[in-house]
Amino acid sequence: MLCIFEHLYFRMIALEKKVSLKTWNSFGVDVFTDFFAVFRSPEELDEILNLFDIARNPFLVIGEGNNLLFTGDFAGLVLHPGVEGIRILEEEGDTVIVSAGAGENWDHFVKYCVEKNWCGLENLSLIPGSVGSAPIQNIGAYGVELRDRMEYLEAYDLEEKRRVVLQNADCGFGYRTSIFKEPSAGRYIITRVVFRLTRKPDFRLDYGEVRALFEKRSRHTAEDLRQTIIDIRRSKLPETDQYGNAGSFFKNPVVANPVFKCIEANYREVPHYPAGENMVKIPAAWLIEQAGWKGKRIGNVGTWPFQPLVIVNYGGAAGKEIYEFSERIREDVETKFGIALEREVQVL
Ligand code: EPU
Repeated sequence: MLCIFEHLYFRMIALEKKVSLKTWNSFGVDVFTDFFAVFRSPEELDEILNLFDIARNPFLVIGEGNNLLFTGDFAGLVLHPGVEGIRILEEEGDTVIVSAGAGENWDHFVKYCVEKNWCGLENLSLIPGSVGSAPIQNIGAYGVELRDRMEYLEAYDLEEKRRVVLQNADCGFGYRTSIFKEPSAGRYIITRVVFRLTRKPDFRLDYGEVRALFEKRSRHTAEDLRQTIIDIRRSKLPETDQYGNAGSFFKNPVVANPVFKCIEANYREVPHYPAGENMVKIPAAWLIEQAGWKGKRIGNVGTWPFQPLVIVNYGGAAGKEIYEFSERIREDVETKFGIALEREVQVL
């Protein structure tokens, strides 16, 4: 494998060796990758793939590394999609079809759209990460998910060795999931994502305190809704540039009704939401808080005092330390409630 890498290196493809990933993962864990490459266009990606047998060698695509926990060095190639550009593809009536490169910062893209009054993404303001990573976990917040706004995406299919277009319905979107996680993990490299937005806002306000805070504002534009969401997020979630974290560490578990009834018998106040026939979603934050982990800190790792679903690196924590901390939370929640929390963060 090494000689393939060496071969690539001498062909002057921008392939760096032994690169620190500290600034490439939002936990700020200090690990190294053997090789690192950025592609800025589908053609540059083709060039790398022509020389490097990505199907047989370890590789990992990192957008901005907001959903990853490294527990050690990466013995392979880290590939960063750096495709830029935001373009209008089509305008008809109030509808605007907008395309964004995978390498665009997600919140920069949302801000740009809101400033142009292309509405639909306001509730997804301030979510860390890149445009290309957003479909992978079908990012969602305050009643809107990426799947509600995405039209199609462009990707490279490593199995068929060609560029493909995947329509929204092809992506298997679900709560914090898509085919890019299961069953097609590692098959596609997303290069561009296309959204259907509108100049005629249909604001989604029915989540928690969103409506109350939005209505208090003097104006009711898309920018106001964006600001409302930003205010809520800032009051609950840590700033990643201050405290290393990956947002929600676990998913909110969906349990069968009888399981929920058992919990409710002992905790009448348990928050819950319907999640399909006979299924109930319980906030993981509540389970973690009840298990005694809200605001708890061990060494350099802790849960965020205002949202215990977020695990924070208070400085210098190793990936293994963060992982072990998360496992202790998981064990305690399972012992107390019989619910096995599923990680949202990918552990490597
Ligand atoms: N709660 C507690 N204790 C707390 C905090 C929350 O019991 O300290 C309970 C409350 O009942 C609250 C409920 O949890 O009503 C839900 O809390 P919140 O509105 O903060 O949302 P969440 O379900 O914990 C999800 C997403 C977040 C997203 C928010 C808002 C997941 C795994 N997380 O969190 O996404 O911002 O909803 O839509 O679905 C992320 O994925 O990184 C992320 C931050």
